[in-house]
Amino acid sequence: MTDARLADLAVRLPNLRLLTDPADLEHYGRDWTRRWTPAPLAIALPTELMDVQTIVRWANEHGVAIVPSGGRTGLSGGAVAAHGELVLSLERMNRVLGFDAVDRTLSVQAGMTLLAVHEAAKEHGLIYPVDFAARGSCSIGGNIATNAGGIRVIRYGNTREWIAGLTVVAGNGELLQLNRGLIKNSSGYDLRQLLIGSEGTLGVVVEATLRLTDPPPPSQVMLLALPTMDALMEVFALFRSRLALQAFEFFTDVALRHVLAHGAQRAIDGDHPYYVVTEFDADESSQDAALAAFELGVERSWISDGVMAQSEAQAAALWRLREGITESLAPHRPYKNDISLRISALPVFLHEIQSLLGSEYPHFEVVWFGHIGDGNLHINVLRPAELSESDFITQCEHVTKLLAETLQRHGGSISAEHGIGLVKRAYLGSTRSEAEIALMRGVRGVFDPKGVLNPGKLFA
Ligand code: MLT
Ligand code: ZN
Repeated sequence: MTDARLADLAVRLPNLRLLTDPADLEHYGRDWTRRWTPAPLAIALPTELMDVQTIVRWANEHGVAIVPSGGRTGLSGGAVAAHGELVLSLERMNRVLGFDAVDRTLSVQAGMTLLAVHEAAKEHGLIYPVDFAARGSCSIGGNIATNAGGIRVIRYGNTREWIAGLTVVAGNGELLQLNRGLIKNSSGYDLRQLLIGSEGTLGVVVEATLRLTDPPPPSQVMLLALPTMDALMEVFALFRSRLALQAFEFFTDVALRHVLAHGAQRAIDGDHPYYVVTEFDADESSQDAALAAFELGVERSWISDGVMAQSEAQAAALWRLREGITESLAPHRPYKNDISLRISALPVFLHEIQSLLGSEYPHFEVVWFGHIGDGNLHINVLRPAELSESDFITQCEHVTKLLAETLQRHGGSISAEHGIGLVKRAYLGSTRSEAEIALMRGVRGVFDPKGVLNPGKLFA
């Protein structure tokens, strides 16, 4: 070990796994954005909470930046290490610490995948309801750091609602036990909530106590084809008023083309510009309610066609049309926007944004999909083959600036659920006021006075 700082860390923690192999630096230094060239100093893979504290203290003494790292499935560059940082991977801290049947909580280490959390909850007849397509690779710590949302927010809310307690190593090396699983706790600032969504800039989440809940009643999955964008919000209002929705997701014909080319099965024939996958509680009365809502939608020309899943396999196939989109686009390394608005602001906003994107990206392929029932749209722009990567990014950044201005006028957010990271930090001011950002920086200075945790992320 030639680096004196790493040699000192190895002396303090002789059993710590430290990787410096180029292949490891590359693997752990990047996330799903694939935009930055990874260049970390080394990768630390601790197994003990106290080791994390020692590493953060070491970083403070040596002035080494730390990038906390989970599954690195992030889409905003929050887990990228491109400037000689130490990547602190929680991947070996992936155990269940305990289940409490009375409190209905599951305590876990931060490196567990979301899927493993789901499975652990299921063993106790309960669910952890936050869910999205990256479940098999993302870590619960990363979900907490970005306040991850996903496909069930319409029913269950974001990650924030499900965190009963956190164990955190703050940027100054202090170990904090935040909220300790309490339901009611009116004793001043809720630092747990401050840590959720802080993108690794205040502390390293090491353990979490998760709230669990009863599994939902049996559900029904439906795919709908829609003739216009306006119909999207009409159908949403119609279905929401008549059914207990568990999910309401949309995608366009362009997204469908990609997902079909990637192996998914077509479920509705013909060309339709918009599609919705919706899931709702299914008892006998809701079957009738769903059919009645469908028929009314057809009568009003909001729905052109539809299919109701007849089996679990068919429900999974319909979900694949929506959940497979990100993976089908990944080889193109799309430029991604992840925006949100109040649902009431969507109808007007959607028209504005459609004409903005149409005029600014006349020759680019633009793929829309997302959690329309939460007011959350994903806009993925694909690079034309003849354009260089850097020209492409420059053009997309220009459009994002216009998008951010439009969002600001409508009171929306430049990041609904992916986080600000590196990708969106130039646009933070479109969603947060100057006063808010100044306070956020102040908070960061209190938790992490030397700025060792994830510097450059969230703020420029
Ligand atoms: C999704 O909703 O599929 C995820 O947020 C991933 C993405 O936007 O690509
Ligand atoms: Zn999403």
